[in-house]
Amino acid sequence: MNVLRSFAFQNPTKLIFGKGQLEQLTTEVPKYGKKVLLVYGGGSIKRNGIYDNVMRLLSGIGAEVHELSGVEPNPRHTTVNKGGQICKEQGIELILAVGGGSVLDAAKAIAVAAKYDGDVWDIVSKKVPVPTEAVPIGTVLTLAATGSEMNSGSVITNWELNEKHGWGSPAVFPKFSILDPEHTASLPKDHTVYGIADMMAHVFEQYFHHDPHTPVQDGFCESILRAVIQTAPKLVEDLTNYQYRETILYSGTMALNGTLSMGVLGDWANHGLEHAVSAVYDIPHGGGLAILFPNWMTYVLDENVGRFKQLAVNVFGISADGKSDRDVAEEGIKALRSFWTSIGAPSRLADYGIDDSKLDLMADKVLAAGGQVGHFKALNKEDILAIYRMSL
Ligand code: NZQ
Ligand code: ZN
Repeated sequence: MNVLRSFAFQNPTKLIFGKGQLEQLTTEVPKYGKKVLLVYGGGSIKRNGIYDNVMRLLSGIGAEVHELSGVEPNPRHTTVNKGGQICKEQGIELILAVGGGSVLDAAKAIAVAAKYDGDVWDIVSKKVPVPTEAVPIGTVLTLAATGSEMNSGSVITNWELNEKHGWGSPAVFPKFSILDPEHTASLPKDHTVYGIADMMAHVFEQYFHHDPHTPVQDGFCESILRAVIQTAPKLVEDLTNYQYRETILYSGTMALNGTLSMGVLGDWANHGLEHAVSAVYDIPHGGGLAILFPNWMTYVLDENVGRFKQLAVNVFGISADGKSDRDVAEEGIKALRSFWTSIGAPSRLADYGIDDSKLDLMADKVLAAGGQVGHFKALNKEDILAIYRMSL
């Protein structure tokens, strides 16, 4: 029967979006308490002034602020454990994450580490049941990419084991997330582009499914992709343009807050393949996705040529007149590659100095949790190796 999968949707995050909205901290923070753990990364928030503004507002409401700085891009479980310890020792009532997806993901893991007697890696690697308790989290997002600001997922790396895993729990949805496009204006071109590739990849992961009759979901996906494709080239030439930042920031959130996957089973193989590359080579997530995704598309095209044709026509504006479905579909994949290249995304693993020496190891990591990955096409080890080889 051509009907949607049954689903339940609940997203409790209060999204606060717009210029000057940081002031809302003074209303939101006191709802949770006075003892705040401020979590941030390697210093961008000190250079662009966001740190000073946050501290001024927190001091205005008499908050007791503890700090955990130095969260790494591709955040590490050892840093998370430190944060968990601070929460336990100081009786932290709210974790305030100020930064990109890495900082937000670390905050989510700290929130559950604070309630767990042991190494947070047990939770991330799913050795223990999904946690149901967490310290409340608020976020101030400074990078449009992951959607972590409005979802319950988190990705943590164990550098001792060279493992990078996604995990999640309804307990770690941020209570509130403040998104001011101006906070993303200081982001350099490379990370702006990685973020754009990541949010587009999130749409693709949910667009490529075999569920029939999804006109509304398709429209949502295609609308986000078209807006990003129209805006990104202008943004990379004008990095502080508020309107362009606004469109990209909103797109990043909408791409992975659960809206697009209602009633469909997305694929997600590319995220598995990319996380394995990042676990071994510590590359930016969006850069890895930009390399892999078009190759995955070429590899799985025959699973549903019509779906790729739809992408080509509705998103890339490719004319189907007088052409076979396959030709149109292939033109769409080429258009995606050219688009990413035109804004400065990498296209080969070699761009990060990655050769074929660890492909086998990475493929095994992708499959560590099972013999296959992906739903649009279930990939086995040979398939994964083929896609990695196409990406060298
Ligand atoms: O550390 P600081 O100094 O803050 O600098 C960061 C970092 O070096 C910098 N940055 C952030 N905002 C800035 C800025 N620099 C100047 N101005 C600003 N406004 O950007 C660099 C990258 O930041 P990061 O947080 O690592 O990037 P992103 O947001 O792309 O997050 C990547 C992480 O998220 C995971 C990825 O695997 C990766 O670990 N993901 C999380 C997901 C989720 N929770 O749902 C889903 C995604 O698919 C993804 O896997
Ligand atoms: Zn991603």
